[in-house]
Amino acid sequence: MTTKQPDGWSSKLGVIMAVAGSAVGLGNFLRFPGLAADKETGGGAFLIAYFISLLIVGLPICWVEWTLGRFGGTQGYNSSPGIFHAIVRKPWGKYVGLLGFIIPVGVYFYYVVIESWCLGYAWNSFSGGLDLGKDPAAYATAFAAFTGLKADGAILGFGGPFLFFVGVFVLNFVIIYRGISRGIEFICKWGMPVLILIALILLVRVMTLGTPDPTKPELSVWNGLGYMWNPHDIGQGLSNPAVWLKAASQVFFTLSVGFGVIITYASYLKKNDDVVLSGLTATAANEFCEVGLGGMITVPAAFAFLGASAVAGGTFALGFNVLPQVFAGMPYGHLFGGLFFTLLFIAAVTSSLSMLQPGIAFLEEGLGLDRRGSVTLLGLITAVGCTLVVWFSEGLKALSTVDFWIGDIGIFLQGTLLIYIFNFAFGTERGWTEAHQGAEIRIPRVFKFILRWVSPAYLTAIFAMFVLKNVAGWNLSFTAAAFTPTDPILDIVGGPGHPASGVARLTAFFLLLFAGFSALMIQRAGKRWDAR
Ligand code: ALA
Repeated sequence: MTTKQPDGWSSKLGVIMAVAGSAVGLGNFLRFPGLAADKETGGGAFLIAYFISLLIVGLPICWVEWTLGRFGGTQGYNSSPGIFHAIVRKPWGKYVGLLGFIIPVGVYFYYVVIESWCLGYAWNSFSGGLDLGKDPAAYATAFAAFTGLKADGAILGFGGPFLFFVGVFVLNFVIIYRGISRGIEFICKWGMPVLILIALILLVRVMTLGTPDPTKPELSVWNGLGYMWNPHDIGQGLSNPAVWLKAASQVFFTLSVGFGVIITYASYLKKNDDVVLSGLTATAANEFCEVGLGGMITVPAAFAFLGASAVAGGTFALGFNVLPQVFAGMPYGHLFGGLFFTLLFIAAVTSSLSMLQPGIAFLEEGLGLDRRGSVTLLGLITAVGCTLVVWFSEGLKALSTVDFWIGDIGIFLQGTLLIYIFNFAFGTERGWTEAHQGAEIRIPRVFKFILRWVSPAYLTAIFAMFVLKNVAGWNLSFTAAAFTPTDPILDIVGGPGHPASGVARLTAFFLLLFAGFSALMIQRAGKRWDAR
């Protein structure tokens, strides 16, 4: 039986828009400002680590993914397991692609849930339901009610939040069923310009806020920008491994590098289609949206209205508690708030679609399913994962457990694996030549050195520091504060003063099962590919 020919991109612009659509997402408008202003990671230290990571791992590994993906496509593969099977040409090669299947699907488990919050908040904002007055507690209560933050199972049933979730979940699968050019490309080509237009409107609104309360001149939008961008506590921040890991993970997360997404998207290119300029353009578009728009809108607006303490509470608090208060305090706030959450929703859809395509590609070429079969099976797998996240909503425990293991650690590992495979299995020289095949510009030569030596050393060093701090430190009972494992690890293993959480354990167990099931599917796929 021959594998069904997949469809592909209809134009060069289409693929760039789709990769940019995948990259620009909640990471740009929520995660990035949240991390940059957060108590633990915030301050200039995070931004320094972020820009270093962007240059020495984000952009180079993005080029690696585009190059290996296009190569895999010319060998007849579109999924990570298939592409690594073609590159490594050893029985274990296909398993290198395991993470490229489970990461996008695993991130989808919770990403689509947050996406549905955005749509729900847009709806509530436009209809005036988010104007809850001046009491911050009212906004926290509304957020808890919408997300089921206070009790497991709280949003299951025929209430608004659950219906928004089901609607958004189904919408993603309807679009993905339409295929690459009629589904993903179509949505990204329309969605991206609309998204940028909305972001520019919001940017102008925020930059003209001035000093909303003349009796508190220190609370101005300019001081908000300063709070976000002026370096402070640098020494302390840069000596904390968590800051470097968070910065590198954010770079991967925001660029959709290390997800298994770009490698799949690039596999639909032709042999001589450019990957260098395309990769650079998509990265630049993402950074414009992240730094130029995401970094300028949320934190300065929140600071100008509510001050420093309000912006330092982390990603969700900033997006869903603080900003609605800010919008409620400005003229036509329901319209600006509605636009903001619509912006988040569009950004999230173009990203969540990209998390489904690697799974679809694998199920089709690995198990020989047709589009209907692959969409159904992936729909079932993600429905189970999403149910876990939606059900165990208390304290967003299941969501943060998946985010930590898949969204932080998994993506980081996959990025590291990619660079090692590029250098050692594919070959740096061969990879460099392959990248420039059909390229419209040349990559500066210094990046060859970075790719070969700096990126692997950098990622390995960060990971080693992280393991030392979290695992060795815990086992060897170091008492210094620097050797305290992060909460998601303690949630599973428990520790002094920190009992293990049943939900975190259940979630981790489910993720392990999912990984095992995926490995079995890959083994089966290998038999098909060997018989080709
Ligand atoms: N790259 C996507 C984002 O930033 C996943 O949200």
